[in-house]
Amino acid sequence: MTPASAQRYTSSMFRTIIEPFKIKVVEPIRMTTPEERQAILKHAHYNMFNIRAKDILIDLLTDSGTSAMSSEQWAAMMRGDNAYAGSNSFYRFEAAVKDLTGYVHIIPTHQGRAAERILFSTVCGKGQIVPNNTHFDTTRANIEAAGAEAVDLVIPEGKQPQSRHPFKGNMDLNRLEALLKDAKPGQVPLCMLTVTNNSGGGQPVSMENLRQTSALCRRYGVPFFLDACRFAENAYFIKLRESGYQNKSAADIAHEMFRLSDGCTMSAKKDGLVNIGGFLGMNDGDWAQRCRNLLVLTEGFPTYGGLAGRDLDAIAQGLKEVLEEDYLKYRLRSVEYLAERLDKIGYPIVQPPGGHAVYIDARALLPHIPPIQFPAQSLCSAIYEHGGIRTGEIGNAMFGRNVKGKEIPSDMDLVRIAIPRRAYTQSHIDYVVEVAEHVHKLRETLRGFRVIRQASVLRHFTIEFEPV
Ligand code: F0G
Repeated sequence: MTPASAQRYTSSMFRTIIEPFKIKVVEPIRMTTPEERQAILKHAHYNMFNIRAKDILIDLLTDSGTSAMSSEQWAAMMRGDNAYAGSNSFYRFEAAVKDLTGYVHIIPTHQGRAAERILFSTVCGKGQIVPNNTHFDTTRANIEAAGAEAVDLVIPEGKQPQSRHPFKGNMDLNRLEALLKDAKPGQVPLCMLTVTNNSGGGQPVSMENLRQTSALCRRYGVPFFLDACRFAENAYFIKLRESGYQNKSAADIAHEMFRLSDGCTMSAKKDGLVNIGGFLGMNDGDWAQRCRNLLVLTEGFPTYGGLAGRDLDAIAQGLKEVLEEDYLKYRLRSVEYLAERLDKIGYPIVQPPGGHAVYIDARALLPHIPPIQFPAQSLCSAIYEHGGIRTGEIGNAMFGRNVKGKEIPSDMDLVRIAIPRRAYTQSHIDYVVEVAEHVHKLRETLRGFRVIRQASVLRHFTIEFEPV
């Protein structure tokens, strides 16, 4: 970067990118001793989901529903109108989502998976196929629950932790075209792209790939939907990495992304900057009517969809704030900062870091622990024991067992360090780095785990372990 363009990039003559907010409300977090944490781990059967929040110092299990809201969002909450039908909040929410996405029909839901369930049980059935770059686990589960097959078609670089491809979330267009060509008429009810690709490391999709996927779907008459949870982070990656977008605003890029698609599912718990909420958006009036019919059964009347009026107002405001460039610059840089520090310590991480999390390759870090002894689980456990920090296992506990109960080691054993939005400061992250450095020194002493109890599906939520 030349000095002039560097200055434009930081919009300041100083290098330090600060949190673009100050703190108005604080929530205490509690230090525990290593002895207390050993007892807590044992009591929780070493499953991170079984630890109570009060026993966690820094919670990096997920970026979902863990954002801090702004003063404007709290003010909007007070304006919330809870009329059962036709609330003012709904119309403010609908206007904000329509302005962002351009879709004709906007259907509120209580979170992302509710939008998924309603969409897939309406438009998918037995024998049908839904392609995606990589389906998130609830997306896949909802497609499979509707009797259809979920197929992942991310580019090969998207599965290589060390590949530095700038858009590792891209769809493999050749494989998508082959699938569409082979399918019987009507066999593919819709095609999706997850932006950013959470299950592949929070990796973005380029505008070029969005455009080509959209064109391909149009050619085969297949509706094209986004899983838009992290649309704003994806838009800012496009601005930083794709030629022709440096001078466009994140908002303009997001508008362009949505307008290439026919609809979306959205968990507002991520880039909606709220603690609960989501929506389903689409242009097709017949599909929208059928989805609303189902919505009334389980979520609520179409102008609240399982949410209070105040939640709808908080989303409307959050969707605007998330596209502010000082925020997005800080957001992506703070994740990158953590990744750089972990890389320097010697952690093998998924490169380049994604938008909402850093993923450590625990299988590469702990070669003495075989996949069947859950190396990522071992690392999560050590990070909690030594620093009180909660992270998430994305490996053999989550994926290593198929629906028939057969153990098949997962492709990778990753630890996800997910960063809640606007919740932690740089000194919290520096503490995480220090704990990680300490655990790295102990890595050869870490032990594997064996399962003592597990459920037949989605076992990672309730699985119980003991150290080997
Ligand atoms: N799609 C993606 C890409 C997601 O990451 C999630 C949730 C969902 C759909 C479902 O949304 O939770 O509102 O029902 N991801 C969270 C996570 C749980 O930790 O990554 P939801």
